[in-house]
Amino acid sequence: MNQVNSKIMDISGFDFNSYISKKIILINKKLGKFIESAQDSTILAKAMNYSLLSGGKRIRPVLCIAAYEAVAEKENDVLPAACALEMIHAYSLIHDDLPAMDNDILRRGKPTCHVAFSEATAILAGDALLTLAFQILSSVQINNNDAAKWLNVINLISKAAGYMGMIEGQMRDINYENRCISLKELEYMHSLKTGALIGAAVEAGAILGNGSSVQINQLKIYAKSIGLAFQITDDILNVTGDPAETGKTTGTDKNRNKNTYPALLGVTGSEKHAKKLIREALHAIETFDNKADPLRAIALYIIERKK
Ligand code: IPE
Ligand code: IPE
Ligand code: MG
Ligand code: MG
Repeated sequence: MNQVNSKIMDISGFDFNSYISKKIILINKKLGKFIESAQDSTILAKAMNYSLLSGGKRIRPVLCIAAYEAVAEKENDVLPAACALEMIHAYSLIHDDLPAMDNDILRRGKPTCHVAFSEATAILAGDALLTLAFQILSSVQINNNDAAKWLNVINLISKAAGYMGMIEGQMRDINYENRCISLKELEYMHSLKTGALIGAAVEAGAILGNGSSVQINQLKIYAKSIGLAFQITDDILNVTGDPAETGKTTGTDKNRNKNTYPALLGVTGSEKHAKKLIREALHAIETFDNKADPLRAIALYIIERKK
């Protein structure tokens, strides 16, 4: 991986583990606060808590914060956007695991939401997390100068999560089961089901950080590449991963006859493709200063991760 790294920029002095652990603590604390108003005595709130606060890499909120920090000059509270993105992600995982979708029983090393509760509860907990995300986004205390920026962020997140983004990607993922599709169709499906929300996380951070249009455009190119590389790595881990590390069952994509990168390109071909995408992502932010080192480190982590 140093090959990918050294050509673009030396970030060997940057302590990624410490950076990400600190951000995860911050995000988890805020998520806990946002959800504490949900009455935890209800079954619905228990199911929401179970899926939202059950670990997870928190990569989307971390990306949102890192993109913000890469361009920002002033302090601004980007955490509501970061947490809303994680809630949308948590909802998408609950629904993704349902019997009518991927029918998975293990997530983050624990029984999936519908297994731990019931199918109806899981559907409703997903619905509730999705709507809570927009409640949080629309409750931000803002001054007039920031109102347009936040509205823009709400708009881009809703587009990315909705029928033009993640949902259409999920629809294609299901419809393509047991079918042969082209690499182009697979790439597009991945960019929708996973790339769209990752793209929204980066763009939202950049907008809230008052990035210039040139910076935002470069960050969008970065996000497009890492988003696809993220799902390619997810596909690879479904073949080669250790369930003790991934917290998910392996081999399920093959069992369900899903279209994935390893199915089309093989594991080695997929790894090569993911590396190429990460090089492209790093290239896109080449001119950024060392405030973008977290973004560089996240790009490398995305293909090196074991979970
Ligand atoms: C899994 O996402 C689903 C995909 C979109 C690939 P993550 O790998 O980010 O899952 P957690 O949040 O860390 O569990
Ligand atoms: C999940 O994709 C994508 C979304 C939840 C939007 P996958 O079905 O490939 O992810 P895992 O492997 O179950 O986490
Ligand atoms: Mg799926
Ligand atoms: Mg799945």
